Amino acid sequence: MTAVGVSFEAPVPWFPLPARLAVLLSGRGSNFVALADACESGALPARIVLVLSDRADAAGLARARARGLEAALEERGGETRAAHEARLAARIETAGADVVCLAGFMRVLSPAFVARFERRVVNVHPSLLPAFPGLEAQHQAFEHGVKVAGATVHLVDAGTDTGPIAGQEAVAVGPGDDAERLAARILEVEHRLYPATLAALLAGGWSIEGRRLRFSGPGSVEA
Ligand code: GAR
Repeated sequence: MTAVGVSFEAPVPWFPLPARLAVLLSGRGSNFVALADACESGALPARIVLVLSDRADAAGLARARARGLEAALEERGGETRAAHEARLAARIETAGADVVCLAGFMRVLSPAFVARFERRVVNVHPSLLPAFPGLEAQHQAFEHGVKVAGATVHLVDAGTDTGPIAGQEAVAVGPGDDAERLAARILEVEHRLYPATLAALLAGGWSIEGRRLRFSGPGSVEA
């Protein structure tokens, strides 16, 4: 049945499996490692065909190379954002990636880039969106005094951390927490949530209705 207002229905599977992933990162790369481990173990029916970093000092870049993966540096120099993104996009397309996974990629992608990979860019964010978008979300949440924090995996749209939510998991804030301890527990959740949600997405059979991403296929994580 096709519901009124459904704007997208993912086929089953979303992409031929194993799906081809490009991972974009700017830093330590622990979420990249979680995705790569899940690919290796078979928990995630995918393979990483490209790792891209915008920072030469990103530990994630070295971690990708150590695993024998194609890993490239695409810094933004004095050029425009459009010119930088054109290089990123060309790499991704040359690698034949189906899905672009942001894993601590600390640049806001332009609407033009997002449109070029429409509904194929996935992000992990260290808060329960729509609370605390943007930078240092765990610190924002802790300073705000929340009792429940968490992590979100979502499709990327033209806004900042505003796209349809595919997976979320809560993390309780304890009385003895500080921002760093909380961030470390959120990160543990991210490492589990990101591969699991991506696996559900790759299974396909989900739809987007307005803002709502609804799982109903074989990879369903919804009741
Ligand atoms: C992760 O906590 C990720 O959620 C966050 O950066 C960290 C990267 O860690 N991303 C954002 O805040 C994006 N808005 P990692 O490099 O070890 O994966």
